[in-house]
This record gives sequence, structure tokens and C-alpha cells, in this order.
Amino acid sequence: IRDNPTAVGDYLATYIAKRINDFAPTADKPFVLGLPTGSSPIPTYKALIKFVKEEKLSFQHVVTFNMDEYVGLPRDHPESYHTFMFREFFGHVDIPPSQVHILDGNAPDLVAECNAYEAAIKSYGGIELFLGGIGEDGHIAFNEPGSSLASRTRIKTLAYDTILANARFFNNDISKVPRMALTVGVATVLDSREVVVIVNGQRKALALSKAIEDGVNHLWTLSALQLHPWALIVVDEDATAEL
Ligand code: GLP
Repeated sequence: IRDNPTAVGDYLATYIAKRINDFAPTADKPFVLGLPTGSSPIPTYKALIKFVKEEKLSFQHVVTFNMDEYVGLPRDHPESYHTFMFREFFGHVDIPPSQVHILDGNAPDLVAECNAYEAAIKSYGGIELFLGGIGEDGHIAFNEPGSSLASRTRIKTLAYDTILANARFFNNDISKVPRMALTVGVATVLDSREVVVIVNGQRKALALSKAIEDGVNHLWTLSALQLHPWALIVVDEDATAEL
């Protein structure tokens, strides 16, 4: 628990930088990092960018896989997760673009796209650390309530609550929010060697308490982390309101 989102970001950036530096990645043995979008990871991204500028950290031998992407939103749309990631992070660090993986929500065959994503993760020997955020309904990536805890990368229809929550990025016009997304599955996340999740703000407090203090439950997919041997949830003070 940290005081506020900036302190959460500083803690996480220090933590992730240490994990990458201790791993000592090389071209033959890259560090494979899973990454989220949303407002929650922005302070972490800012602090990581600072480390790179200060030459305390490099992404030269880091390979990334993003959690999710909207279906049907043009790749260069300001709210596509592709645009978000380059604007908020990849555009400011030394990662070679060929090492960045983001699901293509405009692929002609979406099922094939999802299967290829799982295969690409496998080809690197799996994900070393998956950083994630959650929605107010406890979803991790876009694994909405009711998602199988054994789910893999797939197409998901967004819950109405998620469409409402994300309307803030689309001029508060819910008709502009995509209805579907491609997302890694709960099992894809659980397969990672380590999972680290950011939860900020009182609007996530119920989800946090359900996921931590109730049993493992597909209605709050974050709760699947209880099954993971190496999981860390970093939260701000406001998110603890229901604990
Ligand atoms: C979307 C993303 C999630 C993310 C969530 C939280 O639903 N698909 O991966 O965790 O937003 O967003 P925010 O951090 O802005 O609250």
C-alpha cells in the first residue's frame, strides 16, 4: 500500500527496473514483459522513462506483450491501445519496435490473430513479469466478469460497465466506445512467472476486496491471482477503502 498513485508508480518502476537489471537480459535471453494500458500504469511508465533517460535501465533486450486491444478501432486512432503505448511509453524508451507485440484488433481473422499471439508468447519461453491493471468490475486485461479462469487470448464482448467506464476516453460518448476487444486470457496471465497488478482509487475498492478477501471467483477475475505462486498487488490508500 502506498499513499497515492505517484508513489505506486515510483515503487513499481523501481521494482520492475530491479527485476530487469537482475535478470541481465541479452539478445539471446531477453526479458519478456507483459504490459497494460489505462490511467493506472501512467505514473509507472513516467518513472521507467526517467530511469532510461538517466541510463539506469535499458529496454534494448526487453520484449513486450500488451494485454489487450479494441476490435475495429483504427490502429492510429488516438484511443487505440497501440497509439496509447507509443505515446505514453514506447516512444520514449530504447526498445526496438520489432520487440513490441500488441494484438491487432483489425486483423482479417481475429481468431488466428489470438492464436498467433499465444504462440508468439510461447516462442519466447513465456512471460517473465506481467504488469496489469484492473477495471472497476475486477477485470484483468479485458477478462470481464464470468470469464473462464482457464481462458486464453480471445475475442471478448465488453461489459456494459466497462463501456461506461471507458467512455471518458471517447468524449463521454458511449456510442463511440468499441463493443469488443481482443484480450489475453486469465490463464495467459497466470502462466507468467510473476504477476504484478496496480489498483488505484476508491472506485476500484470493491473489486480489490472481492479479489483478495473473497474466494477465487470468475465474477472478479483478479481473484485468480490467489492461484498464482508469485503475485504482487500494489495499491494506493484510496483503493483499500473496503478492505
Ligand atoms: C481497461 C483495460 C484494462 C485496464 C482498465 C483500467 O479496461 N482493458 O486492462 O486495467 O482499463 O483502466 P484505468 O487504469 O484507466 O482505470
